[in-house]
Amino acid sequence: MAEGLTKSAARNIFYGGSLFFFLIFVALTAHSHWYIVTESTSALPLTDSVREGKHVWEKNMCINCHSIMGEGAYFAPELSNVWTRYHGRENPEAARAGLAAWMRAQPLAVPGRRKMPQFDLSDEEMTSLIDFLEWTDAIDDQNWPPHVSG
Ligand code: HEC
Repeated sequence: MAEGLTKSAARNIFYGGSLFFFLIFVALTAHSHWYIVTESTSALPLTDSVREGKHVWEKNMCINCHSIMGEGAYFAPELSNVWTRYHGRENPEAARAGLAAWMRAQPLAVPGRRKMPQFDLSDEEMTSLIDFLEWTDAIDDQNWPPHVSG
């Protein structure tokens, strides 16, 4: 056996290794894409109303007080599971009515309790916002938050 590597062996290792890891990279990219579009998105369809609801969420900066999927401020309850908390999975109509009534009733004059401002959302904005909260609740976020109370 020749001492050290011959030139052609070194070239083969270089090209073979590059090809091998390039193929692994392509496979991992394909897997990530598959995972994003099938597993880690919401189980519900992404409708125009859900999109609009996300804009309502952003425009009013709800995230300045609330977290959603762990992201945001910790002044007010986590909202990625607020749909479950309002029993939307069992009774969607009651959850819709309950969420809208809650937001319309703010701020509550309860001494010593943190307050949420009144946003005066239109009926359309409220519907989209609740569609967005329902959609978010259907994302498999691996049981975040750990308690249903958020
Ligand atoms: C200034 C801070 C603040 C902002 C901004 C804010 N909230 Fe709140 N929100 C609160 C507080 C505080 C509570 C809890 C109040 C309580 O329990 O009496 C709350 C509670 C809620 C609840 C009820 C949660 C539950 O588990 O019962 C919902 C739904 C909600 N907010 C939605 C929103 C949405 C949607 C926005 C944006 C349009 C928003 N909030 C913006 C402070 C805020």
